[in-house]
Amino acid sequence: MTALSLNERIESARRRFGAALTVVGHHYQADAVIRHADLRGDSLELARRVKETASQDIVFCGVYFMAESAALLARKGQRVHLPEPSAECSMSMMSEVPVVETVRRRLAENGRKVVPLAYVNSTLGLKSLVGAHGGTVCTSANAATMLRWALEQGDAVLFLPDRNLGWNMADTLRMPVAERAVLSVRGKGELFDPAAAAKARLLLWPGFCSIHIRFNTRQIERMRAEHPGARVVVHPECTPDVVAAADAAGATSFIIRYVNEAPDGAVVIVGTEINLVKRLASENRGRVTVLPLVESACTHMAQTTEKRLAACLDAVAAGDDGFMVTAPEELRENAKLALERMLRIMQTDA
Ligand code: 13P
Ligand code: SF4
Repeated sequence: MTALSLNERIESARRRFGAALTVVGHHYQADAVIRHADLRGDSLELARRVKETASQDIVFCGVYFMAESAALLARKGQRVHLPEPSAECSMSMMSEVPVVETVRRRLAENGRKVVPLAYVNSTLGLKSLVGAHGGTVCTSANAATMLRWALEQGDAVLFLPDRNLGWNMADTLRMPVAERAVLSVRGKGELFDPAAAAKARLLLWPGFCSIHIRFNTRQIERMRAEHPGARVVVHPECTPDVVAAADAAGATSFIIRYVNEAPDGAVVIVGTEINLVKRLASENRGRVTVLPLVESACTHMAQTTEKRLAACLDAVAAGDDGFMVTAPEELRENAKLALERMLRIMQTDA
């Protein structure tokens, strides 16, 4: 089947569904996929907008944790489908719940109130754990706000799984470095030494995004030398030295705004997933020059293709729920609590 016929097949399926089905897509999806999306956005925007969507079926072009969050926030009877069920996010796999629970318990042994704060790029199990222990979740767009909130709730915050996002947000809040500690969780948490973390107010799980840690300060220096006057904008999953060397850092929606608001003739170097960088380059061609810091692709996001989207739409039309994402009952309540807590805190902060 040619790309054109896949395009036609998807569009005719979307017309048949009409308002009964909404296709949503994260900014890291390839052009061939995102062009079919009714809604596109960053993780926070999509979580908010999915909650307001009235359609019976939602097809989520993104990675598993995003579709799972949508399924948690969906109305009763609404169904969420993921075109490629094996599209995971490798960072979300870096904080196994039993290990987190061992470390969390040991941190709290001396009566210290440790509030867990999980990046939404995490498993349902982790979201459930933070919900059950008075914590919440955050996205890259609201991480500083949520970290400030969590710090006000107890003696310390356990931020997971992304050490870089946590550290960068602590920089945004101007938290002294002496108050932060990156945890060592070798030995499934059993070798963890709570004394090493006793003085820290921010305890960072040692996870990371393998797509964003490919960026480094040498690349920034080289690009600045090749393009004098260029601005550099990066995602906060990059390492802190990269964020410090950039002119600005923010979630994917921030990066899009930054490029769109750059003055005519500007050169903007972007450190994030390559699909978004290429799209920004083509949308701004002739006005602003957009260049990747280096090309770094998320293979998980790339698993969703037009072919998979077409197959998913066919299955939904046939009443087949093989692509449907569901949340196990035993994890659902607390994970939902964590997500809704985040949305409520955002509302009161606005
Ligand atoms: P956003 O929060 O900017 O959507 O990013 C999600 C993500 O997975 C970045 O790697
Ligand atoms: Fe996960 Fe990184 Fe891919 Fe985002 S870019 S989905 S954090 S692996």
